[in-house]
Amino acid sequence: DKGNFRHFMAKEIHEQPEVVGRTLAHYVNFSAGRVELPFALPFDFKDLKRISISACGTAYLAGLISKYWFERLARIPVEIDVASEFRYREAPLEPGSLALFVSQSGETADTLASLRYASAEKQHTLSVVNVPTSTMARESNVIAQTLAGVEVGVASTKAFTCQLTVLLTLAIAAGRARGTLSAEAEKELVDALIGVPGLLSEAMKREHQIEILSRELSKAQDVLYLGRGTSYPLALEGALKLKEISYIHAEGYAAGELKHGPIALIDETMPVIVIAPHDHIFEKTVSNMQEVAARGGRIVLITDEKGALETGLDTMATIVMPSAHPIIAPILHAVPIQLLAYHTAVFMGKDVDQPRNLAKSVTVE
Ligand code: F6R
Repeated sequence: DKGNFRHFMAKEIHEQPEVVGRTLAHYVNFSAGRVELPFALPFDFKDLKRISISACGTAYLAGLISKYWFERLARIPVEIDVASEFRYREAPLEPGSLALFVSQSGETADTLASLRYASAEKQHTLSVVNVPTSTMARESNVIAQTLAGVEVGVASTKAFTCQLTVLLTLAIAAGRARGTLSAEAEKELVDALIGVPGLLSEAMKREHQIEILSRELSKAQDVLYLGRGTSYPLALEGALKLKEISYIHAEGYAAGELKHGPIALIDETMPVIVIAPHDHIFEKTVSNMQEVAARGGRIVLITDEKGALETGLDTMATIVMPSAHPIIAPILHAVPIQLLAYHTAVFMGKDVDQPRNLAKSVTVE
């Protein structure tokens, strides 16, 4: 049932404050101000030398964001690969390490094959899945469930932000176990997490501006998305969402890679979407934006209040997100990129819930 929405995708985007809140409540003890995982772990984070993550598509990009979190908050080296590569590359894995999988459906063929490879290599297996009865849930040592509810739209939205929520709580738990995150630092992060549902609702209020902007975007042949740090996987996710439902060619790049190639594409016809919350690498992204502006590129800046005040650049549009702790920013900044893809595709008359050639669950290679 789509409720009052035209498409499942719109409904699912708007459900995010609620389902992220529900997922959070499952992983966080609000009154104690700390993460409490709803399952026992058959290993101790402090003994781990490495985490290997594999997943596909949007779930892979959630995993890529969590690499930044695990490394920053828990100082654990993380390697991550798309499951279709991981399953065949015969990666050497030290027995007793952690292999982590992310999947909405829990049925994706390549991710499942990667899980089986990791099990055979004596890894502890932990899967972040949305469907608790899925094959991956059954075959993993630990299931970390996302409580996104049924996701009908082929383009993943609410499952993605719920995956991020669970992965962040795991990174916090890992940081505590490894002594790299103090109780005060944990409390600060948990306070920030508690604010996420409200901030997601606030982020939805940018929808009208984004809808108008999408008319411009729909004229583009190609769109470039740029970001640094956790905004880099978000840039990849923005490009993936746009191409899968609007069929406009889009690419995501690490902003620092701009001058190593993609800058050659920039001209007045090329929208460049820059995701840059005000964080420790904000200035670096701004200087990449200046390079785009100097070549006539049309910039759409997605930032927060502080970032908007500090850039002082002419943009085609600036979408101002509410200010938030930089660690949780990717969860919030997912919303405008989802809305932008959605409205662009709807404006172009595309079937956003059933994009051509795509299946919700990819159970064959
Ligand atoms: C993109 C999308 C896909 C899935 C991918 C993995 O919007 O939905 O890229 O994320 O097929 O699917 P799951 O998460 O079910 O393993």
